[in-house]
Amino acid sequence: MGLTDNQKQLIKAVSENNLIAAKKFAIACVYEDNTQKNRCFCNKFKQILEGSGSNMIELPYELKSILCVEDVSNSFKENRYYLSEREKAILYNIICMKKVNERLMEMGIQYINSTLLYGESGTGKTTFGRYVAYKSGLPFCYLNFSNLIDSHLGATSKNISKAFSYAILHPCVFMLDEIDCISLRRSNSNDSGGPGGEIARVTISIMQEFDKLPNNIIVIGATNRMDRIDEALLRRFSLKHEVKPLNRNEKEEFIKKFLKDVDMNFSYKELTTLVENDQNQSMIMNELIHMISKKIYDEIGSDFNE
Ligand SMILES: Nc1ncnc2c1ncn2[C@@H]1O[C@H](COP(=O)(O)OP(=O)(O)O)[C@@H](O)[C@H]1O
Ligand SMILES: [Mg+2]
Repeated sequence: MGLTDNQKQLIKAVSENNLIAAKKFAIACVYEDNTQKNRCFCNKFKQILEGSGSNMIELPYELKSILCVEDVSNSFKENRYYLSEREKAILYNIICMKKVNERLMEMGIQYINSTLLYGESGTGKTTFGRYVAYKSGLPFCYLNFSNLIDSHLGATSKNISKAFSYAILHPCVFMLDEIDCISLRRSNSNDSGGPGGEIARVTISIMQEFDKLPNNIIVIGATNRMDRIDEALLRRFSLKHEVKPLNRNEKEEFIKKFLKDVDMNFSYKELTTLVENDQNQSMIMNELIHMISKKIYDEIGSDFNE
């Protein structure tokens, strides 16, 4: 018996290192096999492949403390994500470039699909990176520079190089978060021996790694401190996009979308303060969770004996 279409697609996905597609076709394979002899095997792997714990992608040992790779196809909650018109336009651009990248490569044109998101903390930059991975069907490969520096500055260049080598081989959305932690302008750090010198070396090594990236990878950088980023590194980002705090109407839509998905209702008055205060999404989300918890507590509180 020859290979089925799903088996062929599985082999293709593995050969392209596309783990999300591989998983999808592996699931299709275990569902299409109805033979008695494979029943136990298929049931076992249906559970494992579809289980909620299988969103994190297993990494080689030496990368575990550096990178985090997630299959967001099940874990990202699109119904709770509010997409403003500004971010919609950027998403469109990123997805278009993903679609044309193969043709560009054939034409010998090197284009890195790289976008730098900048703006205040709590405005949704990291969440947008996960959303891009969800919409483009690629794994979300997350590198946080603040963690990288905190743990061991001396080994940073080596670790960056390991992370990029992984991303180069696995088509993904590669998020370089809090990139300002490393990329202090090199002119601000002119001594070559102290931590400033190390930071300058690390900045150079990121740029060298950047230049090796193939067209089929989507890079999303994020920073709260655009002013601290080295000019030469800035030039590596094809798009620079400011993620602005939501305006009043957008906040209202953002809150409504979340409440609809969790099936909760609050009066207009209860929500007005949330919308009118000068709060970003992160703060609003915290307040909403408080309000929801209080409501649940009020409903079930009388059942407690204490
Ligand atoms: N557009 C959005 N839709 C839904 N929730 C959002 C959105 N933007 C931000 N959030 C919420 O706010 C929190 C903080 O966002 P985050 O992406 O960490 O901000 P930043 O990276 O800019 O500091 C997230 O955990 C998420 O719950
Ligand atoms: Mg962030």
